[in-house]
Amino acid sequence: MYRVLVTRKLPGPWIDHLKKEAEVEIWEERDPPPRSWILSRVKDKDGLLVTLTEKVDREVIDAGKNLKVISTYSVGFDHIDVKYAISKGIRVTNTPDVLTDATADLIFGLLLAVARRIVEGDRLIRSGQWNLPWYPEFMLGKEVSHSTLGILGMGRIGRAVLNRAKGFNMRVLYHSRRPHDVDAEFVDLDTLLAESDFLVVTVDLNPETYHMLDYSRLTKMKSTAYLINASRGPVVKEDDLVKVLSESKIAGAALDVFEREPIGSDNPLIKFPNVVLTPHLGSATRETRERMAEVAVKNLINCLKGESPLYEVRL
Ligand code: DGY
Repeated sequence: MYRVLVTRKLPGPWIDHLKKEAEVEIWEERDPPPRSWILSRVKDKDGLLVTLTEKVDREVIDAGKNLKVISTYSVGFDHIDVKYAISKGIRVTNTPDVLTDATADLIFGLLLAVARRIVEGDRLIRSGQWNLPWYPEFMLGKEVSHSTLGILGMGRIGRAVLNRAKGFNMRVLYHSRRPHDVDAEFVDLDTLLAESDFLVVTVDLNPETYHMLDYSRLTKMKSTAYLINASRGPVVKEDDLVKVLSESKIAGAALDVFEREPIGSDNPLIKFPNVVLTPHLGSATRETRERMAEVAVKNLINCLKGESPLYEVRL
């Protein structure tokens, strides 16, 4: 029987399914497992199923002398040294597609929330400060319909955001490494920054996109524009975003991801009323998380059996 290490309990029946095929050692807590636990337990395993909080670097890969597959329960794989794993003959798999709609829904929710001041309004009522009847200039936000949406990156999630934007009659611009066959206007990065009312980040994190949105880029945005990020925190240089918000160089931001997660109550982003914050919830629906478990487990089993996984990360 194959031996598999799983670093977190997953929703749905898929770990039980895996147990029929392999001897499974699993970390049962909600906190991530200590690195020492992974390093010692991976030694005799054929497969490793991880989440995005586990760094699978050379040390872990070297410790897993028998590893044939690293299956991540995420679409992102920036926590894995994929190049090194592949050089050691280890396959790396991930879970795209099944989380695209859930993530695009959250992105649109964030966009609407920040533009129409939904969270601010909720806070106002709960804190007992809604003390005037309706008046014409109360809590005015930014109109979403017919505005210009800029999408940075045009992968699966970018396309799903584009589809939603069509329902809002938005003009859609995008920038990515190359043009795609989509119903949106391909522009250079400076144009995207300068013309978008809402700039949505959908690129994955890699050395090229790390701190891609720093002070010089963020200040190219309109002072009336909003930044929405549900991809990976380090694509945006967070200190620079704080500076840009402090100087009112943009109108606001809605963020699901951060440079270091979880963020504490001392994070300066918390003090801005025009910033909406969610705790990395992009794929967080029961249906999606169960589908991710199915894909992650099937990827793992297929690779162990020498068959093709549903999704494989290739560089
Ligand atoms: C991913 O899959 O990479 C998301 O960040 C979490 O689902």
